[in-house]
Amino acid sequence: MNLLKRAFCPVACLILAGACLPVQAKEKVKNESFKPQQEWLDTDGNPINAHGGGLLYHNGTYYWYGEYKVGETILPSWATWECYRTDVTGVGCYSSKDLLNWKFEGVCLKAVKDDPNHDLHPSKVLERPKVVYNKKTKKFVMWAHVESADYAKAAAGVAVSDSPTGPFEYLGSFRPNDAMSRDQTVFVDDDGKAYQFASSEHNQTMYINELTDDYLKPTGRYVRRFIDKAREAPAVFKHEGKYYMLSSGCTGWDPNQAELAVADSIWGEWTVLGNPCTGPDADKTFYGQSTYVVPVAGKEDAFIACFDMWKKKDLANSRYIWLPVIFGQDGKVTIPWHAEWNLGIFEKK
Ligand code: DGJ
Repeated sequence: MNLLKRAFCPVACLILAGACLPVQAKEKVKNESFKPQQEWLDTDGNPINAHGGGLLYHNGTYYWYGEYKVGETILPSWATWECYRTDVTGVGCYSSKDLLNWKFEGVCLKAVKDDPNHDLHPSKVLERPKVVYNKKTKKFVMWAHVESADYAKAAAGVAVSDSPTGPFEYLGSFRPNDAMSRDQTVFVDDDGKAYQFASSEHNQTMYINELTDDYLKPTGRYVRRFIDKAREAPAVFKHEGKYYMLSSGCTGWDPNQAELAVADSIWGEWTVLGNPCTGPDADKTFYGQSTYVVPVAGKEDAFIACFDMWKKKDLANSRYIWLPVIFGQDGKVTIPWHAEWNLGIFEKK
């Protein structure tokens, strides 16, 4: 007994002393350049956790929203395909002034743990959140892909907030225009009209759904495009009056070749331009999958293509690949590989 006491005492003292030490603040991180595929830390020194995400620029600040993935990646016992997932935790929100240094603003749409029937219950699937600002209602509106645990729901969930950092109030889910809605994005045009692009019909065909003036519902006006082309991960942007859609093929969490398409009207016709990626592993999108294309505020012709680099068996540790979109003299649009780069790349020569 005495022996035990003697052994326990120094250990206990050490633990107690440790507990009383002032908590060391994590060293603040300052990112000076984009380093695609590398670990990307937020301003507190934690890896950025915002997957399948989208950006919003509002009043001089960028906001980055994405799937907040925590914990173990699981493959359900019934799975006949690689539907790896983490429990639904919610949507993470980060803010930044320079697109490089991101402050964690918290989980702005939270999982609902006490209702197994709720879309946001941890057992469900929540992917590809996108937030847009509605100038008329002054509300921030989030659209996301919500799934039942068995991946059969194929619906869009909508949430709303008075503040870009949330909390977002979940309004519910539905199939826009009665069609399946999986990988999705929302694009707001210069005239304030918003559109949801959604992989539909078992991911075979892209739907372009016009939204009501408050951005909360579809108007009923829509088109089916990229019919039987199996496009996923749509990211839409506009440059010099033309609409572009960057997308991936449909191979689960595994990378494939990206594709860029262009149209004079958002409704199409859409013309496929081919793979915009150039450099090593461009045929595999540098091991990434598109999620968003963000215009750089205050710079002409400056857009950043944002990709996820999924780690399918450890989704919470998936990384990001952000690369410049280059509009060439010859009219070609490319996304060249850079192991390290910064916004200086957009300065006119
Ligand atoms: C590809 C999609 O783009 C991802 O968002 C995710 O749904 C995976 N498929 C699941 O396999």
